[in-house]
Amino acid sequence: MTATITPSGTSDDNFAARPTDVNDVDHILAAYDDKGWADDIGRTVELNADAWFTWDYERSRPALSKLYEKAKTSQWNGTTDLDWSIDVDPEEIARGLMQFSMERFKMLQGLPGSPFKNFGEKEWMRVGVEMQRFQLSQFLHGEQGALMVAGYVTATTPWIDAKYYAATQTVDEARHVEVFAKYLDEKLGGAYPMNPNLGALITDTLTDSRWDLTYLGMQIMVEGLALAAFGAMFHTTTEPLLKQLLRYVMSDEARHVAFGVLTLREFYEGLSDAEMRERQEFTFDCAERLRNRFFMVDVWERMGVDPRAVLKVMQEHPAPQQADFQRLLFSKIVPNTKKLGLLDASDGWLRKRFEHLGVIEFEDWVDTSEEYANLDAFEADAKTTN
Ligand SMILES: [Fe+2]
Ligand SMILES: [Fe+2]
Repeated sequence: MTATITPSGTSDDNFAARPTDVNDVDHILAAYDDKGWADDIGRTVELNADAWFTWDYERSRPALSKLYEKAKTSQWNGTTDLDWSIDVDPEEIARGLMQFSMERFKMLQGLPGSPFKNFGEKEWMRVGVEMQRFQLSQFLHGEQGALMVAGYVTATTPWIDAKYYAATQTVDEARHVEVFAKYLDEKLGGAYPMNPNLGALITDTLTDSRWDLTYLGMQIMVEGLALAAFGAMFHTTTEPLLKQLLRYVMSDEARHVAFGVLTLREFYEGLSDAEMRERQEFTFDCAERLRNRFFMVDVWERMGVDPRAVLKVMQEHPAPQQADFQRLLFSKIVPNTKKLGLLDASDGWLRKRFEHLGVIEFEDWVDTSEEYANLDAFEADAKTTN
């Protein structure tokens, strides 16, 4: 069965007790009680992990070493490798959004109780423009989270090969923050604040004292979803600057996810079932928060539409477009969690939940540690020019 946000798909009765129903509207909206993410200047997060000095400088992990070498030759420059002179029409981008993420809301218009009842072309165009800004803003804030995590991981990770690689990721993430910030500022008129689901997820990821959970939250979950979402946006947008920006960012992200898979795979081989279960629960919590951000509550609030009414009508009339959209977001996460042994540990705890979410079909798709080299757009462009 495919559960999107349907009441019938919400019961956790078949599973080990979880405190709340993940599809409950009050539960979803409760995340928005913390308004601190919308503060003007910033936010403090306290860190808890220890930095680790290793005296073992031997390059004993060839797969990580190869990734590090690849990262060194695939550096692009956000200032000079993208054509910032291109004029961007936000309405043109909004039109491209139709298949990617707007259709699943637009089709609710004629339903009883729909808050979109009186929407015309003008309102839907505004939804498209706001949604694009919202999504790119969350990419921007997520990139800043990744920047901090990558720098932090150079200190917490125990292996020298991982410290080397994480240092290259830190530079990549700085470039990503730079280009998304510039695009939003110069082409779309500014960013939305960080969504509280994303904020809470990144906080949990940064503040856990176990180094591997920092990797799991960022490299596997946030970046795995980003890779799928960037890919979908890349394929649907026709705006040339955004397309090229996403293409280059994606090729870096594939390396970052591969880094998570390669590192955690080795580490997780040595964990007990009880320890794996903690990681599975963390994974599922991350998945829930990532999904919830795509209900676009922030956009509805800004447009004066009651988000509760949107969620309610989605629950009452589950649509295939909603399920398809949700599935797409998990297309990278599921095969990577399988490769890490997280799907089937602890009597398949996570497998059952991914089955319930309707995303298990991706389990045998290629994992990112196998495909990252093929996604190197910058190298491909360099070969064409030379
Ligand atoms: Fe990034
Ligand atoms: Fe990344």
